[in-house]
Amino acid sequence: MKRIRKAVLPVAGLGTRFLPATRAMPKEMLTVVDRPVIQHVVDEARAAGIEHVVFVTGRNKNVIEDHFDRQFELEATLRDRGKMKELGLLESETPGAGATSFTRQQAPLGLGHAVWCARDIIGDEPFALLLPDMLHLGAKPFLADMMEAYSRTGGNLIGVYPVDESETNQYGIVDIGGSSDKVAEIRRMVEKPPRGTAPSNLAISGRYILQPTIFNLLETQERGAGGEIQLTDSMLTLAKSEPFHAVRFDGAVYDTGSKLGFLAANVAYALSRDDIAPDFKAIVKAHLG
Ligand code: UTP
Repeated sequence: MKRIRKAVLPVAGLGTRFLPATRAMPKEMLTVVDRPVIQHVVDEARAAGIEHVVFVTGRNKNVIEDHFDRQFELEATLRDRGKMKELGLLESETPGAGATSFTRQQAPLGLGHAVWCARDIIGDEPFALLLPDMLHLGAKPFLADMMEAYSRTGGNLIGVYPVDESETNQYGIVDIGGSSDKVAEIRRMVEKPPRGTAPSNLAISGRYILQPTIFNLLETQERGAGGEIQLTDSMLTLAKSEPFHAVRFDGAVYDTGSKLGFLAANVAYALSRDDIAPDFKAIVKAHLG
């Protein structure tokens, strides 16, 4: 079984749900507590053993490339001022030389198209795919759980989490035949099932492990929902010939691409930090009256 070494992070979306914040600033660079959303996701990938991160970018996204580069001036200033803790933090969170790649999607034709743009950099290897606007807050980095599951199942894996029954029509939903196992074979996937027809309440959370065969399917994938090239459509075809397993995430998932999801993430991440939680709780309490 080939090891998962690389992760794809598609960051070429327009972020229309978060206008006007995203006029010139990518939504992935909005800050949750003290680091950009995308830094949280890169940290998750690296903690799971990912060695190389491929960013699929678009217009206005240069700031992401700069964020993951070394900042010599800043490092020198921190060193001069004896701010060794801050310096250590910067160094530990910056991927090493050659450990990142950036490719342009050129036009936001959909998530499936963005993933396909990474094909040459990924090559003939299975890879992780992390949607960088989806944050997973749990006891352990979720991708690490998925890697562990992959070492047992091989094939393709999709991260899922339970959502309210009344909201299943907003998500990609998987059917695992009523199994309560953390890792279970997927029988069916449906994208945004009409109300009352969802086979379960397990929604796709934005974490995947995929075989490179997906690229051949994406190459000829026709436009689907919303006129976009949809990843789910190619996964449905791939599921006819390769196994797909769901891995359940037991923590909390935040869609930071939506205003409320972003605010909720900030509250939850602040409350999960020992250095911030006590003072932050007092501030929130004061606001609630
Ligand atoms: P979303 O649909 O959440 O992102 O796509 P969006 O299109 O930026 O957001 P809205 O709906 O307009 O507010 C999920 C992920 O796929 C990426 C996005 O950047 C996001 O991380 N994506 C989406 C691309 O890279 N390219 C695309 O063409 C579409």
